[in-house]
Amino acid sequence: MSVTVRVPAKVNVQLAVGGARPDGFHDLANVFLAVGLYDEVTVTPADRLRVTCSGPDAGQVPLDRTNLAARAALILAERYGRDPAVHLHIDKDIPVAGGMAGGSADGAGALLACDTLWGTGASREELLAICAELGSDVPFSLVGGAALGTGRGERLTALETGSVFHWVFAMAGRGLSTPAVFREFDRLAESAGRSIPAPVASAGLLTALAKGDPDALAATVSNDLEPAALSLFPELADTLAAGRAAGALAALVSGSGPTTAFLVRDAASATKVADALLASGTCRTARTASGPAEGARVLAG
Ligand code: C5P
Repeated sequence: MSVTVRVPAKVNVQLAVGGARPDGFHDLANVFLAVGLYDEVTVTPADRLRVTCSGPDAGQVPLDRTNLAARAALILAERYGRDPAVHLHIDKDIPVAGGMAGGSADGAGALLACDTLWGTGASREELLAICAELGSDVPFSLVGGAALGTGRGERLTALETGSVFHWVFAMAGRGLSTPAVFREFDRLAESAGRSIPAPVASAGLLTALAKGDPDALAATVSNDLEPAALSLFPELADTLAAGRAAGALAALVSGSGPTTAFLVRDAASATKVADALLASGTCRTARTASGPAEGARVLAG
């Protein structure tokens, strides 16, 4: 018997970052929107725990116990007295090390898949607590939709969205390490002698989301990690410029990058902007997707 779970990618429509905390993390006001690019995680009983991966970026995915899918299975098995001897297969469509929570999606997907296979009876709260142990973005991968994440991003409040928002995502030729981008954020703030205010969600942005107004959302999106991502990956400025020139309403780095995200008015504009981005030669590939998308879900076997 196998269980397959589908899990969405995310874009941060606002990522407000505070100063480094004593535990090394940063306090965030993180407005997540799940978008319709998905990984699928399939769990099957096996003689030992192993992870395999398919998809265009499969070669870059670690298959050892550092993979969040493997860690999710191990934590759940330990907590509920199950044997973690399972084969986890990840069919990967979310870019690797791209700032779209691909690794987090696999952690949340494996957790829900193993929970379903083993029938642990864990509550939603218990699953969310394990997600938070796995990583700051993992709880959001489980719930999907739109949410404000506070703390290090793991404490979620669901948000209303008045309609579907259309996006184009430009994938870069290499990844960026999230810890490296946060370190660069700290370095830039320190060298500018800037004190970092406490992160706060923008009221205008939350209203734009609730109204489903793409122009108002475009005027309010922001990402405090963008200067750090651009500092480590300066060519991303060309991708952002190409998307703006093609008519995107807003262009920003997705999370810690290097994927760039372009908000557009409708599905037709998405196709046009994606074609222009590809033709510009400033990205490896460009994909269209809309959000909010639903969170991790067991697919009918
Ligand atoms: O929580 P997660 O394991 O995804 O975080 C990866 C890394 O990103 C952390 O080790 C930390 O360096 C950085 N991070 C941070 N503040 C956050 C979330 C992540 O500094 N709120």
